[in-house]
Amino acid sequence: MLILGIETSCDETAGSVAEGLTLQGGVKILSSITATSAGIHARTGGVIPEAASRKQIEAIIPVIDLALKEAKLSSGQIDTLAVTSGPGLIGSLLVGVETAKTLAFLWKKAIIPVNHLVGHIYANWLIKELKDRKTKKPKNSSGFLVQSSSFPQFPALALVVSGGHTDLVLMKDHGNLEWIGGTRDDAAGEAFDKTARLLGLPYPGGPNLSKIADDYIKKHPLEKLNLFPRPMVHEDNFDWSFSGLKTAVLNEVKKASGNDSAHVKLSDYEKFFVSGKSKSEIPKLAAEIQEAIVDSLIKKSVKAIIKYKPKSFLLAGGVAANTRLREKFQKQVAAENIHIDFRAPVPPLCTDNAAYIAACAYYNYKPVDWKKITANPELTITSEL
Ligand code: KG4
Ligand code: ZN
Repeated sequence: MLILGIETSCDETAGSVAEGLTLQGGVKILSSITATSAGIHARTGGVIPEAASRKQIEAIIPVIDLALKEAKLSSGQIDTLAVTSGPGLIGSLLVGVETAKTLAFLWKKAIIPVNHLVGHIYANWLIKELKDRKTKKPKNSSGFLVQSSSFPQFPALALVVSGGHTDLVLMKDHGNLEWIGGTRDDAAGEAFDKTARLLGLPYPGGPNLSKIADDYIKKHPLEKLNLFPRPMVHEDNFDWSFSGLKTAVLNEVKKASGNDSAHVKLSDYEKFFVSGKSKSEIPKLAAEIQEAIVDSLIKKSVKAIIKYKPKSFLLAGGVAANTRLREKFQKQVAAENIHIDFRAPVPPLCTDNAAYIAACAYYNYKPVDWKKITANPELTITSEL
């Protein structure tokens, strides 16, 4: 089955043609095109929704056109459309949803609406174009050669960590998700982005902070990194709180720069200039921040693995690209003698793209008439579509 996926929930405009093989065989990426307005948001230090949606309008048709061209297919050969219907920024979502509806009407196709958060998880069912060098056989999105057991097994536990959401869900089957925990305030990606901004690092903060942090850890492998608290880790739930980290980091930045006057509030951080003196502290602070976020995520995930005993553990969302999170999770489960099938998509498939939207649509095949599709920025990971 050939699916044209469309994703426009934030500042990326993505189109992908993907082929669902069999329920056991994964979804092969035939093309995956992503345009981003991140460059514009870098100038303001964060996404301006109005600017993001204007860029979506400019990019959507060329992106879809290119996705079809790269897959060497015409619109008539596509079986169905799939589009992110939420959550996300309303202006951005509307561009994808209305475009999908128009194309569905013109091409006489159905549409499968996809929840963006559930979509992220399906990056774990994608088959990369990349072939194994020796055998020339295709690999799945974790880089394993495609064979019968190369996709996640149910029940699976999925940690979805993106810029706006942090959710832990138990997946009993496709379309059967139970939410077991999440953030009470900021998302993990938001914690990376906002603290990176406090350190004067460019947008998007997560990958930039993580690069500096990883370099620091390489140079200081034995250093204990426990400057910042790991809130709620000892509580008997699967929830997180990341909002306190911003204030804790701001206090350290003030101290390091010698400018700890009370009038520098968190809300003023865009005006707060990191002085030359504090610049030398940035790598250590970046490593401390990353460690606090990563430790908190791992602690509750491992606790949930012990309680629910899933067969697979799946990382998903932009923060799943974080190397320290991937490596430390594997070390932690090994140290606790837990045997679990661990999956994390290759980094480019963790961040927003339309290939996982198509994969999610394939495994949750509920085509809808175009008239019945609406954008909903408020969807949660377990919302009915
Ligand atoms: O899933 P995503 O691409 O978009 C949303 O749905 O939000 O996630 C974007 C988030 C941003 O907060 C970004 O800083 C974070 O993922 N991110 C990372 C890394 N790569 C992306 N955070 C930490 N380390 C990374 N390597
Ligand atoms: Zn996302």
